[in-house]
Amino acid sequence: MNTNKGRADDAVGTGAEANIVVIPGDFIGPEIVGETVKVLEAVAERYGHRFRFEEALAGGGAFDEYGEHLPATTVDVCRRADAVLKGPFGGPPAELNHPKWAKVEQEAILGLRRELNLYANLRPIITREALLDFSPVRRERVENVDIMIVRELASGIYFGPKSREIVDGDEQAMDTELYKASEIRRIARIAFDLARQRRGKVTLVAKSNVLVSSVLWREVVAEVAEAYADVELEYMHVDNASMQLILDPRQFDVLLTTNMFGDILSDEAGAIAGSIGVMPSASLTDGKFGLYEPIHGSAPDIAGKNMANTIGQILSAAELLRYSLGLTKEADVVEQAVDQVLSAGYRTADLVSYKDGEATGTGEMGDLIVEHVLRAE
Ligand code: IPM
Ligand code: MG
Repeated sequence: MNTNKGRADDAVGTGAEANIVVIPGDFIGPEIVGETVKVLEAVAERYGHRFRFEEALAGGGAFDEYGEHLPATTVDVCRRADAVLKGPFGGPPAELNHPKWAKVEQEAILGLRRELNLYANLRPIITREALLDFSPVRRERVENVDIMIVRELASGIYFGPKSREIVDGDEQAMDTELYKASEIRRIARIAFDLARQRRGKVTLVAKSNVLVSSVLWREVVAEVAEAYADVELEYMHVDNASMQLILDPRQFDVLLTTNMFGDILSDEAGAIAGSIGVMPSASLTDGKFGLYEPIHGSAPDIAGKNMANTIGQILSAAELLRYSLGLTKEADVVEQAVDQVLSAGYRTADLVSYKDGEATGTGEMGDLIVEHVLRAE
């Protein structure tokens, strides 16, 4: 991450140029991605940058056009870009056996992660004051939560050997949690580098009382920690970590974990923070290139109804500005714009409670955030 390629090194301050590939995704994807492109255009206008957007297809949209979920042309276009802004993929529950939707996640998302070597998934879990009442956990426990989940994204049980066969008349299926020390080392360094810029603590979450792969994680991460004397390393089993996230989420700073545990814990943490609809993520590799997507799915039931929450996607664009383009101030401005709009009481349908009154539409929410960006200092 941000180490060797330095593609966007000249992108600091005004006048930055960037090529951004936009993959709209399925169902609510095009709506929320459309609003997010508006926000990025507002950033470009306000701060004198030049962002070129190029659309590419993957997921259900690519299946309609090319008969496959991840065309090679899409991977090529992404490889040449500075960053990828990606909407969610996935089909309706009733149609999951239809070839358009079967395996769409494995082929499109996992394919992109693997092809682009996106091994570091950063999922910031921040509680926003305006959303505290949506947390199922009491306000006094979730106020001021600021966790960075660092999820390994290119290996582990998602990508290990798989099989399905009949043995002695009994059908069996297998997935394999396989990790190499080199894969653990590179993600651990990212976690420690981030902890240094934050509150100086890494919690490694695994299951070393049962899994030998977790024992390797503990050993390798402890080795990496030796080069970071200023960072505290703590170890926690995943079952305990899932409980601690609810009991006392403020104890976590950087939470480093495997692909599978990170998937599970980030949904839990998103719910604790009030809504998974506002949670962004950054998927990074060596250098500045990254892919940015919300952590939620494609919500077929509300697609096309102007109801989707666009904030997770917009905050993903803030991460894009920060990590791929080095535009830290602009990233902060987008995040502040989101906070201002939420604090003013605007809520999409997923966040309307009995006392809030009417829901703000997806497009109106995007427009409000754009206005705040254009007025920012
Ligand atoms: C996520 C999603 C994906 C994952 C799915 C859609 C394959 O749940 O990004 O968290 O499991 O990584
Ligand atoms: Mg998930």
